[in-house]
Amino acid sequence: MGATRDTRSMAGLIEAERVHGSLYCDPEIFAAELERIWYRGWVYVGHASEIARPNDFVMKSIGPQALIMTRDQQGDVHLLLNRCSHRGAQICVTKKGNAASFTCPYHAWNFKNDGRLHGFPFPSGYEGVDKAGLGLARVPRVDSYKGFVFGSFAATGPSLDEHLGAGREAIDRLVRNSPEGEVEITAGFLQHKVKANWKFLLENETDGYHPQFVHASIFSVAESGIGSLYGGKSTAVTRYLGNGHSENDLRPEFRRLGKPLGWFGTDAQRFPEYVSRMRAAHGTEVADRIMIDGTPHTMIFPNLFIAEIQIFVLQAVAVDETVQHVTALQFKGAPELNRRLRQQTMGSVGSAGFLLADDAEMYERTQRGVQSRDPQWVFLGRGVHRERVDEQGFRVGDVTDEIASRGMWEHYRALMEAA
Ligand code: FES
Ligand code: FE
Repeated sequence: MGATRDTRSMAGLIEAERVHGSLYCDPEIFAAELERIWYRGWVYVGHASEIARPNDFVMKSIGPQALIMTRDQQGDVHLLLNRCSHRGAQICVTKKGNAASFTCPYHAWNFKNDGRLHGFPFPSGYEGVDKAGLGLARVPRVDSYKGFVFGSFAATGPSLDEHLGAGREAIDRLVRNSPEGEVEITAGFLQHKVKANWKFLLENETDGYHPQFVHASIFSVAESGIGSLYGGKSTAVTRYLGNGHSENDLRPEFRRLGKPLGWFGTDAQRFPEYVSRMRAAHGTEVADRIMIDGTPHTMIFPNLFIAEIQIFVLQAVAVDETVQHVTALQFKGAPELNRRLRQQTMGSVGSAGFLLADDAEMYERTQRGVQSRDPQWVFLGRGVHRERVDEQGFRVGDVTDEIASRGMWEHYRALMEAA
């Protein structure tokens, strides 16, 4: 596409059932997305449990922007840009730790962990300089929901609550699986880098059409029944939740099975301690219902994928490069289950796991493929004729239908065309 593209208008690029391939590979569009989506809306950054103690910090990001997520002495959380206000050096290169302040390695300016400039060497050279104006830059809005910390580079705009909308219920449903009602992100992250546009990953997370084909080998090796949840006969559904969020709702299948921990491919007898703690916390009936329903499979736009037993955090780096940060979920008060969650995560998405490797192959093939001269469109019409509205007013399709992509693109268009 030429340099004259008007990236403010998506006319001719996004239609009801198809989108133009250039949306995945045009650097001008990527630059516009950074401004209108990644540096304007709410983006998931990290979890409060990653910086549990005063002065804890962890390196994070919003798209290509490197951040330090800190907890100050008082317990407040800050998202600081990892860039010295003197001559631009990155302040922090340590993935995580505990520090009341950060000293830039270049000329040793020192910043408190709330971003304030604390001091600099040989201060006589800075007579009259206003230190207050030389702190680390910060992401202006920081908010959290049940420990999940989000940031927005826009000083004003919709609140986090408004952005999350129906996505909040997925987080509620997730944390209920802890006997103490909390998840912890303490297992460490794996990073998967792919040469593909971030939207291919986003759309794939709730694409219920591909698992039986792309993941056939892992399902057969692991003797897993997951594949059949995503078949033509499955009663599971794909639901568009608004604001770009979507889910594969597998509960109808798990309820048919009616077995606590059936969603996890196991049963209550294998985890007696967890089951009894859940029943003590919620009462037997409610606990069993929670343990039958399992955890969500929900994509929170633009970058937080709650993948049943893991979270995947998408980081858009370039038009054709995305990093997926992956970790096992850990449920507070459930050590027995947590061990198994870590093992299963290593097996499926660890360095020798097939699951993400198989998806990555498709991300990179689609990235290469959409650059062909013809056809120029990606067809997303699957299930249009059977789209329906559920009792809560959400658009729903069969689990293999492309309703999540269609909804996401409508939201994307609204964001890209907004003033
Ligand atoms: Fe950081 Fe000079 S660049 S102190
Ligand atoms: Fe997949």
